[in-house]
Amino acid sequence: MMTPAPSQPRPTPMDRAPRDPAAPVAGPGQWSAPAPRFAPGEAPAHVALIMDGNGRWANQRGLARTEGHRAGEYALMDTIAGAIDAGVRHLSVYTFSTENWRRSPAEVRFIMGYATDVLARRTAQLDEWGVHVRWSGRRPRLWKSVIGALERAEERTRGNSVLDLVMCVNYGGRAELADAARSIAAEAAAGRLDPARVGERTVARHLYLPDLPDVDLMIRTSGEQRISNYLLWQMAYAEMMFSPVPWPAFDREALWDCLLEYAGRERRFGGAEELVARPGAGGDGS
Ligand code: FPP
Repeated sequence: MMTPAPSQPRPTPMDRAPRDPAAPVAGPGQWSAPAPRFAPGEAPAHVALIMDGNGRWANQRGLARTEGHRAGEYALMDTIAGAIDAGVRHLSVYTFSTENWRRSPAEVRFIMGYATDVLARRTAQLDEWGVHVRWSGRRPRLWKSVIGALERAEERTRGNSVLDLVMCVNYGGRAELADAARSIAAEAAAGRLDPARVGERTVARHLYLPDLPDVDLMIRTSGEQRISNYLLWQMAYAEMMFSPVPWPAFDREALWDCLLEYAGRERRFGGAEELVARPGAGGDGS
C-alpha cells in the first residue's frame, strides 16, 4: 500500500542557504523522515531528472552561475539516497547536453572540471550505497578527463545493483537516435542485417545503453516545461512532472513528493477504458 500523499504540500526549500557542496550526505535509510512505501509497480522503476535552475538560483543570490552548479552536487547526492530508499531502480541525470557546448567557454570548462571532481570525490560513497554509475552520451568532443572519470567510476561500481545512476554527459536524444541509425546502416551495408527487418527493437538495441528500460517518470526542476532533447526514445510514455524548485534546493523529500504524485496517476500506454456505466453492469462506472 502506498503511503498517502500529504494533504498540505510541504513548503519548498527555496530559500535554503548555499551548503558546502562537498558536505557528507545522509545515506539511504538515515533520514529523519521515513521514505514513502510503495506496493510493487506503484513506484517508477526509471526516473529521469533534468537538474535545471542552477544558474538562476545562484544569480538570484548574487553569486556566479558556477556556484549554482556546485550547490547541485549536494542536491544530487541527497536525491540519489532518496531514490534508493523509495525503491527506484534507475536514475538518469542530465549532466551535460550536446547543446550545452554553446555556453561560455568558462562555464563549459567549469562543468567539465566539476563533473570530474564530483566523480572522484563521490564514487566511494556511491559504491557503498550499492550504486552502479553508468555513462550515456557521445564520446567525440567530450573531455578525456571526464571520460576517464566516468569510466573509472563505472569500473569500480560495476558489481552494484541497488540503483543504476545513468550520467547523461555529452548526451542528446537526437544524437543518440542518429548514432543508432548510423550503426544500423553500417550493419545493413555489411550484410549483417536485412533492412526489411529493421523495427523498434532494432533501434532499441543500438541505443547507447540498450538494457536501460523506458523512463517512467521525468522530473524537471526550476519551472521550465520542456524536455530539451533528453532521452527522446526512452520517454515515449513517461509521465512528466515540472517542479518549481530550483535544482540546488531539490532534495530527497522533493523527490518523494513527485513519486507519491506519480503513484496516483493512471498510465494507459495508448490503451483506453470505457468510463461510462454500461446499462445493467452495476457499479458507478469509475
Ligand atoms: C542546469 O542548470 C544544470 C546543468 C547544465 C548541469 C550542470 C552539471 C554539472 C555542474 C556537472 C557536475 C555536477 C554534478 C552534480 C554531477 P542551468 O545552468 O541550465 O541553470 P539555469 O537554467 O538557471 O541557467
